[in-house]
Amino acid sequence: MRITIVDCDHETFEAEQEVSAARGIELVREHVTTEDEVIRVARGAEAILIQYAPVTAAVLDALPQLKAVGRYGVGVDTVDVEAATSRGVAVCNVPDYGVQDVSDHAIALTMSVVRGTAQLDRLVRDGEYGLVPVKPLHRVSTLRFGVLGLGRIGAATAVKARALGFTVVGSDPQLEIGTYTADGIEVVDFETVLTTSDVLSLHVPLLETTHHLIDEGALARMKAGSVLVNTCRGAVIDTAAVAAALRSGHLKGAGLDVFEQEPLPADSPLLECPSAVLTPHASWYSEESYSEVKRRAAEAIADVIHGQRPRDIANPEVLEQG
Ligand SMILES: NC(=O)c1ccc[n+]([C@@H]2O[C@H](COP(=O)([O-])OP(=O)(O)OC[C@H]3O[C@@H](n4cnc5c(N)ncnc54)[C@H](O)[C@@H]3O)[C@@H](O)[C@H]2O)c1
Repeated sequence: MRITIVDCDHETFEAEQEVSAARGIELVREHVTTEDEVIRVARGAEAILIQYAPVTAAVLDALPQLKAVGRYGVGVDTVDVEAATSRGVAVCNVPDYGVQDVSDHAIALTMSVVRGTAQLDRLVRDGEYGLVPVKPLHRVSTLRFGVLGLGRIGAATAVKARALGFTVVGSDPQLEIGTYTADGIEVVDFETVLTTSDVLSLHVPLLETTHHLIDEGALARMKAGSVLVNTCRGAVIDTAAVAAALRSGHLKGAGLDVFEQEPLPADSPLLECPSAVLTPHASWYSEESYSEVKRRAAEAIADVIHGQRPRDIANPEVLEQG
């Protein structure tokens, strides 16, 4: 039995080695990017682990022995899941490995803007010892924190924000307006979250319906002096419109971890906005989430090889096919 790591830019592979050794599976490490290369290195493997490599119908056709594709992460967009399902190949991901880390990061970005820490740090280093550039700051307990998308990460962020003293509300099309989540967060409509929040934190997937959800029109409806936090996907906001709202002061600040183009281009208008706190798609990262995603991705496909049900699978129909 063999698992081939098709592509992965991680520095260590101990987690995968431990899992495969414990299950009596040989582990082979490669690093390729094209369909032809994937076919070449994966020949003979019962399962493959991928980071960004393409697993198309053509790849699957060329690898008839393949039982499982494991993705280091949440998204499976480089895998033709439909083609995999019709060929009985399990596609396994790790949907929740970064929930605590991303929600911590959303809170870190929020507090950095709400308390002005990043901007004040720069001022102190520049020899300025005053508060004027960050004024006005308001006590957290006077602020309303709105969560767009009360899924795994949004729900965790909401609870952490409430623990800090914010009044927290959220919106999610899957939840009924006027009800409360299991954690006791009030569910309101999109417009209410958008127009009444002092901090708006985004936790939605990137879909056609969420692309540029926060555009010029939406920004204009946000409270003057509010703060935008984005740790979900860059294209959920219109970057040019957000930069303009930061420049005009309509947005007091923004905490942004994800961008329409990554890495953030050197000429991005966001780099000229001192009230924006920017991080390089770092929310998911902690040593713990890093080893968790590796171990769980390997465990899931090892389970499939051994005929066991994996903890997470994007196409559970294949398990019913026998
Ligand atoms: N920055 C990072 O490092 C990082 C790491 C992991 C995940 N993410 C991103 O975080 C986001 C949330 O991930 P998750 O695991 O919580 O996903 P999830 O699927 O658990 O939750 C997403 C929620 O958004 C809701 N939603 C969809 N459209 C909406 C809309 N128009 N308005 C309000 N809510 C809407 C869905 O109903 C769902 O409940 C995703 O975009 C994911 O890609 C970022």
